[in-house]
Amino acid sequence: MHSSSEASSRSPLRLGLLGIGNVGQSVFDVLTRNQDEISRRAGRSIEVVMASRRNLAAAKPLADAGVRVVADPADIVRDPSVDVVVELIGGTTVARDLVLQAIANGKHVVTANKALLAEHGTEIFDAAHKAGVVVAFEAAVAGGIPIIKALREGLTANRIQWLAGIINGTTNFILSEMRSKGLDFATVLKTAQSLGYAEADPTFDIEGVDAAHKLALMSAIAFGVPVQFDKAHIEGITQLDAQDIRYAEQLGYRIKLLGITKRVPTGIELRVHPCLVPSERLLANVEGAMNAVVVQGDAVGTTLYYGKGAGGEPTASAVIADLVDVARVGNSSALERVPALAFQPDAMVPTPVLPISDVVSAYYLRLRVSDEAGVLANLTGVLAKSGISIDAMLQREAHDVSGQEGNQTDLVMLTHEVREGTLDEALAHIQALPTVLAPVVRLRKEELA
Ligand code: HSE
Repeated sequence: MHSSSEASSRSPLRLGLLGIGNVGQSVFDVLTRNQDEISRRAGRSIEVVMASRRNLAAAKPLADAGVRVVADPADIVRDPSVDVVVELIGGTTVARDLVLQAIANGKHVVTANKALLAEHGTEIFDAAHKAGVVVAFEAAVAGGIPIIKALREGLTANRIQWLAGIINGTTNFILSEMRSKGLDFATVLKTAQSLGYAEADPTFDIEGVDAAHKLALMSAIAFGVPVQFDKAHIEGITQLDAQDIRYAEQLGYRIKLLGITKRVPTGIELRVHPCLVPSERLLANVEGAMNAVVVQGDAVGTTLYYGKGAGGEPTASAVIADLVDVARVGNSSALERVPALAFQPDAMVPTPVLPISDVVSAYYLRLRVSDEAGVLANLTGVLAKSGISIDAMLQREAHDVSGQEGNQTDLVMLTHEVREGTLDEALAHIQALPTVLAPVVRLRKEELA
């Protein structure tokens, strides 16, 4: 039997933190504050022995606590006193080199870096497998929500059918404010930046790239396929107009930036885009900077995971969960461990990612048209010819046009499901009609039932 005295006599797990920003400091703080409970769970203590920070003076609190602080993170990945490297510096160049060096030196790696794993995951997981070390990344997806653990272990009995998530807090905050306060995108983006939600350069957030990084990792784990960020279809929220949020609401929907990955007979869908979601769905009611992921498994049905997707201590919570896993299983053979991407590395299948034109979805369409006889009949005629069926429709006076421009009106339609390529062909015909006065707005809609 494994007594608690045996457990406490096991050697500590020694960490090197690459980067001591907000998350690094939080990892240290939570490990210190909860050290007793964490070591009772892990069976050994977890200690920060080294940390790197370019500004050594700013690292004084850690140095005062006995941590060896260095300016060069490369000193950590080659130091024999470090068992696990915790990579928190971000980016895909220096971080990639450091992680690969750490692996080559036989160290386990825990990282919060979704961009690194989304872009270089295949290389990194392969190197880790060959070196017999763990690469763990709970903190890389949806911050403090244990979604990787849930997908990889809790739902392991299931054939997962699809998952959909709000996995970028900045954009969810922006969309929530646009809806509740009727503000436009640019105004809310400035608020998000002043509140510290959005980065000074928020491109990855608002263009959907950050969400696609996280989605590519979840898709791999859900379906046993390689990480395929490069094949994801990505649209952000920069083009989203506040009036579409209002019209969607009148039709019973909210617009969210969703990451969706779905198994269909011909392959896998992997897409990030703004999406109408029925207002009564829990996911539609995830507001502000919160994250949530819905997973549909064949045995379990629908499950929902909700929480903070960013921030120092929520992210530290996920990092430390990985560290406890490493403390428990670090020296077991690779076959005895939970595989990094849930499926055994030799059991991954190269399922194709469908081009967006082959994705089948329902759509929201907004058309600015001349308000005259026959216009609607012409439009619906084109849709009918392509076999596109209308589910609901609104006609609203266009408020943003001056009187001199004549009678204009907004037609807002929801379609039934259609292949995107088919819809695009029909919309090209519609756009060419002289009575269609502005670019047609087209958003996807998911019932998530
Ligand atoms: N920028 C991210 C977000 C933080 O807004 O959710 C964590 O990836």
